[in-house]
Amino acid sequence: MDSAIRDPAAAKRAAGYQAAERVKEGMIIGLGTGSTVMYTMERLSQRIHEGLTIAGIPTSFQTAIRAREYGIPLTTLDDHPVIDLAIDGADEVDPLLRLIKGRGAAHTREKCVAAAARQFIVVVDEQKMVPCLEGLVPVEIIPFAIQPVMDQITAMGGIPVLREGVKKDGPVITDNMNFIIDARFETIGEPEKLEASIGLIPGVVESGLFCGFTHKTTVIVGDEKKCRIIP
Ligand code: A5P
Repeated sequence: MDSAIRDPAAAKRAAGYQAAERVKEGMIIGLGTGSTVMYTMERLSQRIHEGLTIAGIPTSFQTAIRAREYGIPLTTLDDHPVIDLAIDGADEVDPLLRLIKGRGAAHTREKCVAAAARQFIVVVDEQKMVPCLEGLVPVEIIPFAIQPVMDQITAMGGIPVLREGVKKDGPVITDNMNFIIDARFETIGEPEKLEASIGLIPGVVESGLFCGFTHKTTVIVGDEKKCRIIP
């Protein structure tokens, strides 16, 4: 039986913890967003209590709040425009290590931090590994331009839907005070081209396609018994 189906939380914890073991003394670490990276921070917190000295750059309010609870010192991209390592989750990972991110609407800051990092570790469970990227691409948009951007995404073959809040009426507002659409593309044959095309639409802040970091990416696929490391 697939280990991710057997116990998804254990698989995420295994991946998150293994990433935390790769953090070395004195590093500046990009801290991604989402449930898998929360396990990385849990383990980093333990290591800090054992004497490790690091600082983290959070990619969301969620991560910043949790990092403070865990006693992880925080810093900023202003102070550290180049960082040692970023650790983050993903929604889909293809065989070339291209990603879709943004389920939690944090992908803009996640992309900034991944771009600043010398190494990028992606922590996932087996269910995130896909033969090709497909499905929903999150796109952060300034509210002023929501309609023309949605029209242009439709013209590109996508079906955009404005993301609605849960326990909040109306649209999701990101940590950067913008809107999010989820654009459904049946298949994404050329993710690099789609990422570039969406990025050129005026009013788009960032899409959740991450195609530019494959050269520095390591994926840790969590499993209770033995994590798989790619490449
Ligand atoms: C946040 O916006 C996302 O990019 C997350 O990093 C991604 O959805 C992975 O989250 P989980 O680790 O919770 O699956």
